[in-house]
Amino acid sequence: MNGRNQNQGRPDPRTGPCAAPKRFVVRRASGRDSREIAKLANLAGGNTLSFLLQGINPLADTLRVYREMIMAPTGMFSHRNCLVAISRGQIVGTANAFPASLIKSEVEAAGSTDRDKLLQPRTDLNDSKSYLLNNIAVSRAYRRRGVGSCLLAAVIDEARLRSFPSVTLHVWADNREALAFYERVGFREAGRAEIPPHPDLPHTGGSLLLKLLIANEEDGSRNSGVAIAAVES
Ligand SMILES: CC(C)(COP(=O)(O)OP(=O)(O)OC[C@H]1O[C@@H](n2cnc3c(N)ncnc32)[C@H](O)[C@@H]1OP(=O)(O)O)[C@@H](O)C(=O)NCCC(=O)NCCS
Repeated sequence: MNGRNQNQGRPDPRTGPCAAPKRFVVRRASGRDSREIAKLANLAGGNTLSFLLQGINPLADTLRVYREMIMAPTGMFSHRNCLVAISRGQIVGTANAFPASLIKSEVEAAGSTDRDKLLQPRTDLNDSKSYLLNNIAVSRAYRRRGVGSCLLAAVIDEARLRSFPSVTLHVWADNREALAFYERVGFREAGRAEIPPHPDLPHTGGSLLLKLLIANEEDGSRNSGVAIAAVES
């Protein structure tokens, strides 16, 4: 375990994820970003949304559905719950996060297909008191440059500001790159859902719920220093 891992939710000011000079800015998303966010969100989901949609309509266009949900002013995927990282005017990364309690109301409203039922053990792991990082993704060409770390730090800051005790997220157990990314910041496994194999869901080892406890002000925690720019008009 390194120093950062023991430092739950508090990036080390000397070696913290956003200490390196940046060539990008993080800002809140707007509806106009929906197309680019949808492409990235599709990368982050590990085929989960397309798996669910195909259970309703085998011809469903996942990207289009993502785009419409992101464009909407409300709902989990709404651009209002998204941050984007911009480099040279291009969106190169995105994060979508909101109170985990929102999932419960949306899932109950959506009804349940056989595919929803297959993923139910994953849904059951949700910690409704936490702030949920629903997806995070960086364009391939911009990975390993600190973009993901800055987006993640901004999400953790937001959760702290809104007084959530923790940030949680679901990750497929076979997504080793994402696991390395989260573990470095101090996320720990808080539960594992066994998901029965399915030919349209190419994952093994089930789905993990990872949790990062957020230290409060009295513990000396502080924000990461990621400045979130306003949406451009
Ligand atoms: C996970 C992801 C968002 C990371 O974004 P990123 O901008 O590349 O991350 P960073 O550059 O901030 O990486 C920070 C640290 O995380 C770890 N890390 C990131 N990617 C890693 C990889 N592919 N393998 C091993 N460790 C990795 C490293 O410790 C890295 O620090 P280093 O580059 O100094 O070694 C990006 O790989 C991605 O978009 N993956 C596809 C979508 C996805 O799986 N999202 C998560 C769904 S749960």
